Amino acid sequence: MTLSLGKDLLGLEPLSGEQIRLILDTAEPFKEISERAIKKVPTLRGATIVNLFFEASTRTRVSFEFAEKRLSADTVNVAASGSSVSKGETLVDTARNLEAMRIDMVVIRHGASGAAQFLAERIESNVINAGDGTHEHPTQGLLDMLTLRDRFGTLEGIKVCIVGDVLHSRVARSNIWGLRKMGAEVGVCGPRSLLPTAIEELGVTVFDRVEAAIEWADALNILRLQLERMTAGYIPSLREYNRVFGVSRERLERAPHELLILHPGPMNRGVEIDSDVADGPFSVILDQVTNGVAVRMAVLYLLSGGRPELAEAAKTSGAATPTKGKRSSDE
Ligand code: CP
Repeated sequence: MTLSLGKDLLGLEPLSGEQIRLILDTAEPFKEISERAIKKVPTLRGATIVNLFFEASTRTRVSFEFAEKRLSADTVNVAASGSSVSKGETLVDTARNLEAMRIDMVVIRHGASGAAQFLAERIESNVINAGDGTHEHPTQGLLDMLTLRDRFGTLEGIKVCIVGDVLHSRVARSNIWGLRKMGAEVGVCGPRSLLPTAIEELGVTVFDRVEAAIEWADALNILRLQLERMTAGYIPSLREYNRVFGVSRERLERAPHELLILHPGPMNRGVEIDSDVADGPFSVILDQVTNGVAVRMAVLYLLSGGRPELAEAAKTSGAATPTKGKRSSDE
């Protein structure tokens, strides 16, 4: 029996703990490829991947593109502006026209929750969700978990508190699903107006005060206030938010132990996180970005039908050439 991911990566909610571990373990040997002078292996040579980014992105878009190029795939980037989407073409028509040019995979970021699944159900190519509305951002959740596992050696039993605008955060949802499946304890902290109702039903502990969250947690994953998604006055002002929920050095210094600091980016310095925390000794924010490339290499490799043991071989000889495995499932 070989464990696989299936055809698409749409979220962490549908994955098992074993599948998440498979991705994290497969990412390990891929880390080293980015440290080489020539950052390339022929693993996905001949594969064609389209990056459809219909929402702004720096880290995810560039990270996927690096991951694809380091695996020797041919890649094309499509943004909403400058494509026929701006003339009214639908998402499915865009994707079907790209498929007519014989592509293998689509990486999609879209402002609508469910857009990745909608596409995956309508095209043959593998679909990877690079963030859909407020639903999920699975590769961000995976890179956050890889960064935590690097530091703590395990995810089992660690306490991670997600602080900030959980309501609008696809990163929060992917972290909650992923971390819980891997045996971590998860907390959320923020103004009640920025926490989804019944969030406790996801098995998380709710903290109304950031001081209590800091006292409880081993790591904080601090979220940006997503002002562009806010349709109502969720907070009195950014200054007030920083005063009550901002993660500052003073607050961390009062904690009974050291805490690891994560942030998925982009950061609003001086709002949810102060600069001396973001750039401080316990910050792993740039390690998250580095790990993002390895995690995305692992996801591309596994979805293309690659076997985990060959990822190690790809590292040493560059010889792993996965067979195409569309619509594969646990065998
Ligand atoms: N973390 C994240 O998704 O960042 P980008 O929006 O820059 O891709």
